[in-house]
Amino acid sequence: MQLMIKSKNLHKYYEGEVRVHALRGVDLSIKKGEMVAIMGPSGCGKTTLLNCLSGLDDITKGKVWLNGKDLSALSDNKKTEMRALNMGFVFQFYNLLPVLTAVENVELPLLLAGKSKGARERAKNALDMVGLSHRYNHRPSALSGGERQRVTIARAIVNEPAIIWADEPTGDLDTKTSDNIMDILCELNNQNGHTMVLVTHENRVADRAERILHMENGVIQCDEVREV
Ligand SMILES: Nc1ncnc2c1ncn2[C@@H]1O[C@H](COP(=O)(O)OP(=O)(O)O)[C@@H](O)[C@H]1O
Ligand SMILES: [Mg+2]
Repeated sequence: MQLMIKSKNLHKYYEGEVRVHALRGVDLSIKKGEMVAIMGPSGCGKTTLLNCLSGLDDITKGKVWLNGKDLSALSDNKKTEMRALNMGFVFQFYNLLPVLTAVENVELPLLLAGKSKGARERAKNALDMVGLSHRYNHRPSALSGGERQRVTIARAIVNEPAIIWADEPTGDLDTKTSDNIMDILCELNNQNGHTMVLVTHENRVADRAERILHMENGVIQCDEVREV
């Protein structure tokens, strides 16, 4: 399998009134098509790691490569372009635009990337894939938490990204809805081959991944490969 994401001696400091050493030398490699959970207690650096690997945030020391490209060699514009073309993001708190309907929210990344041709159809297909064919024209306020998170997933996959980053995608959901969201993410990984990097503090969620990186205090303590 092709190597997709790699980091070497990755450090991240947040500079503020107090300096926080959030990542303390993270070495990892993730292959194309893998489904990896990053697991650990609150504050151990999971979100920071995801942001640093995806180029959303700058790193302080060390290196990150995506598809063999050194992230530090790319300008902010190039990084933004790479994210728009190759990555989908699923965060805990939806970030859906309240004035837009489900299908308009999902369509938006395509329009922003200048791919308006066929965008509406692709947005509908993405909503169909997450089981929301009956909710195209609902605004977020008229959807349940689980439905909103499914719209977020549809928005993340509409561009057929190579990598999907999910930060506590089930954080706000009850167990049944959470299982349903995980079913969808696992199926996208299995059927469509999206590389999936999933941050969670819940065992139940991490259990669905074929590999778990256990984080503690800014480092990966254990790289667990599993049968699922
Ligand atoms: N923007 C920030 N400025 C300063 N400190 C931060 C910032 N974001 C996170 N931190 C600190 O970095 C550490 C790791 O945070 P985070 O990556 O959010 O952990 P997790 O996602 O595992 O809960 C924590 O101590 C947190 O308080
Ligand atoms: Mg977090």
